[in-house]
Amino acid sequence: MYMNANTPRDAARAELAANYDLAPSLAAAKATSELYARVSRVIPEVDWARHAPYILAIQKLKAEKDAVILAHNYMTPEIFHGVGDVSGDSLQLAIAATKVSQQTIVQCGVHFMAETSKILNPAKTVLIPDSRAGCSLASSITAADIAKMRADYPGAEVVSYVNTTAAVKAASDICCTSSNALRIVDSRPGDTVIMTPDGYLAQNVARESKKRIVYWEGACIVHEQFTPEEIRAFREDNPGIKIIAHPECPPDVIAEADFSGSTNGMINWVRKHRPEKVVMVTECSMSDNVASELAEVEFVRPCTICPHMKRISLEGILWALHSGTEEVLVEDALLDPARRAVERMIALG
Ligand code: 13P
Ligand code: SF4
Repeated sequence: MYMNANTPRDAARAELAANYDLAPSLAAAKATSELYARVSRVIPEVDWARHAPYILAIQKLKAEKDAVILAHNYMTPEIFHGVGDVSGDSLQLAIAATKVSQQTIVQCGVHFMAETSKILNPAKTVLIPDSRAGCSLASSITAADIAKMRADYPGAEVVSYVNTTAAVKAASDICCTSSNALRIVDSRPGDTVIMTPDGYLAQNVARESKKRIVYWEGACIVHEQFTPEEIRAFREDNPGIKIIAHPECPPDVIAEADFSGSTNGMINWVRKHRPEKVVMVTECSMSDNVASELAEVEFVRPCTICPHMKRISLEGILWALHSGTEEVLVEDALLDPARRAVERMIALG
């Protein structure tokens, strides 16, 4: 396991073992039994005895180091329920980052999320447990690409998904997330809006928007894999099942779904409607995290993993807190323009 760019894995592990009691432990499992009650439907007891020593060590260090853990909905349940202080979708985590009182933010999510926290809190220390946790959307576009699109569509505003680097945010007029994309696009002046970098999200928004949308053809490596045939097969194999999908899925997949929304929108839909059977057409850990809470709902689970999100582990979080690495920094020149794009989005509600 990688710890961070500067410390070889074995050296980091040896240092953690020398400082914390990390062997699987029934006593640690007992000390965290309240947390285990939340995840017992999705994590076997034997695995919890492995996770519990890390959870105890992380909780202690969080308090000692004045740190808060922001956990995206795609984190595995032992992170999401075990150590996360605030959980949510990209928008909720960005808003939470503006409100936390702690001096250090440990971002349990991918790099663009940590950058967003830093952009909104330049005076705070933002740590990411594995800086290789990227995103296929964020890496699909550069600030130079934005400049070219502006030249191709003079006068059109650029709305960039938060799944972008700080440089791309800085080159954009405003950001959006999957929960507010339609509202943000429709709020822009002019007939034409440039949307980057998710081509499927842009097409899904275009179906409902009053604007002409031109877009960059990036895609999420998780959501682009789903097909309408697969969705129809879920229905055929599971009569009465509800199908809810993330708007990063292709439009023909969204057309087959009963509901589409951000990761938190999807969670709230299941909480509200409590279907007998549901499939969440998105990353694997979402179902695990909600299934822990909703015993009466049966989740059909196509397991499509985001390899970037899955780089974040309890061991990596402990190392981040212990070593104070890896710190996420944003170039000074990008901070103000990138913050303006994110804050404009937040201001629109
Ligand atoms: P949400 O904003 O819906 O959480 O989406 C983030 C993401 O990366 C989904 O793949
Ligand atoms: Fe990026 Fe897709 Fe992973 Fe979300 S699931 S972080 S969009 S690669």
